[in-house]
Amino acid sequence: MKPIIVANWKMNPATKKEALLLAGAIAKRKSKSIVVLCPPFVYLPFLLPYRKRMRLGAQNCSWQEKGALTGEISASQLKNLGCEYVILGHSERKKYLGETKEQIARKTREALAAGLKVVLCVEHARELALLQERVNLKGKKNLLVVFEPSFAISTQGGKRVPLKRIGKEIAAMKKLLGRGSSVLYGGSVDATSIQGILREGGADGVLVGAASLNPREFAELVKRADMA
Ligand code: PGA
Repeated sequence: MKPIIVANWKMNPATKKEALLLAGAIAKRKSKSIVVLCPPFVYLPFLLPYRKRMRLGAQNCSWQEKGALTGEISASQLKNLGCEYVILGHSERKKYLGETKEQIARKTREALAAGLKVVLCVEHARELALLQERVNLKGKKNLLVVFEPSFAISTQGGKRVPLKRIGKEIAAMKKLLGRGSSVLYGGSVDATSIQGILREGGADGVLVGAASLNPREFAELVKRADMA
């Protein structure tokens, strides 16, 4: 299976010009890995032309299909725009915006129903099990779960998680999700750590924050993923 590399730009960059430059630099390189760019919502329409080289994803969506929900964006609106993926349950949304398991479960249901591929972040296998009590995640082919402990995120301490621990947690998640499931790893992933995470950690791909904002670093990361 080709590694999946999801670039989470978070609330960056500051301007449309920079977003186009960054996407352009990333799109210049051919890769075997599947690269998914997840920019802020406002840049998505401008990055549609790059879809020949990479996929596009959003960083959130609503739990509701349509209607009175000021400031929200629905999964079907994203799908309709040409977006293929959506990141849900990111720890920053839980920590700073108070997103609950119930909301994440509803968003996941909604996004899968709209035909989006869901990149669902969890802290550990226990959290995945708790979400599974609220939404059926077994055997869902459009689901990619990310093992991303918040303490490993570069802006939250960036602690290195031993590859053995990554492997164990990923195996536990795969057991919960059933055969054919995809589990990625996230948290300070860069060009130096990618190969170990894919090989020894047994991850099917990675969720990358900071390193995805540096075109040179990201190109090297993708190159090493291609060789893993
Ligand atoms: P990081 O971010 O790679 O900068 O640690 C990852 C994430 O928060 O998804």
